[in-house]
Amino acid sequence: MPPPHSLFSLGIFSDVQYADRENLGKCRYRQSLRYLGEAIECFNRHDLLAVVNLGDIVDSNQEAHLDAVLDVLSICVHPFVHILGNHDLAGPLGRQELASRFGITNIAGERLRQDGWRVIAVDSTEVSVACSDLLGIQAKCDLAQLRRQRDPSAQCWNGRAGDSQMLQLERQLVDADACGESALILNHMVANPHSGSPRHQCWNHSDLRQMLVCHPSAVAHFNGHDHDGGFATDPLSGIHYLTLPAICDSGEKLGAHAIAHFSRNSITIEGWGRISSRVLHCRN
Ligand SMILES: [Fe+2]
Repeated sequence: MPPPHSLFSLGIFSDVQYADRENLGKCRYRQSLRYLGEAIECFNRHDLLAVVNLGDIVDSNQEAHLDAVLDVLSICVHPFVHILGNHDLAGPLGRQELASRFGITNIAGERLRQDGWRVIAVDSTEVSVACSDLLGIQAKCDLAQLRRQRDPSAQCWNGRAGDSQMLQLERQLVDADACGESALILNHMVANPHSGSPRHQCWNHSDLRQMLVCHPSAVAHFNGHDHDGGFATDPLSGIHYLTLPAICDSGEKLGAHAIAHFSRNSITIEGWGRISSRVLHCRN
């Protein structure tokens, strides 16, 4: 149930990672389609502004995998906000083709603006080793440097937002500050080593955190990528970092989806399955 004074609500899930393949570790690749269906049916019973997919909806972008998840998504009565993850970009389709399949017109940047809130997407797959162009060369240089620095994020499954994207993010936050708005950042990768595995952080995690601290509008950062999930509040800034557990790692009967209810001064997370319910108070 939405709390009193709720302005609007968003459904959220992450890391469906559907594939027609045998289970590996805790990943139940085939069953994840059923967990996704249960999440969508739950979302359809609620009044939502949109449903957020925090990335890695497929294990790789084979046509059959995409068709299967799009078929399940088609029963949703709400619009989607899709964020790209590293697994989404594994396979034959490039970034723009994939974005087109999911109806994404702007992969990074402002995705929603409602009742004093601004929802901004960060694309941490923009500079990654999956890129085949100059950004891919840049990614290999970044990765080598991070390995020399022994940064735990120096993993081939991570990446970062490019320089111009970071500038665009800063402009969005400056504008949100000036408008007296609150901002929620959506990202696929972890940005705080206490809210998820440091090995699943985006490569520019430190720069991103420092940018958010400088902007009073920045309230929270939601991501997936680390299948175990996690949560931390930065003790100095009060910014909340929430890593949603992966749907594909759900047990036989548990799911992993949530509804976030937005009020003027807080976000209330209503969780199902492995996601804990909690209230995130705004820092300002
Ligand atoms: Fe991922």
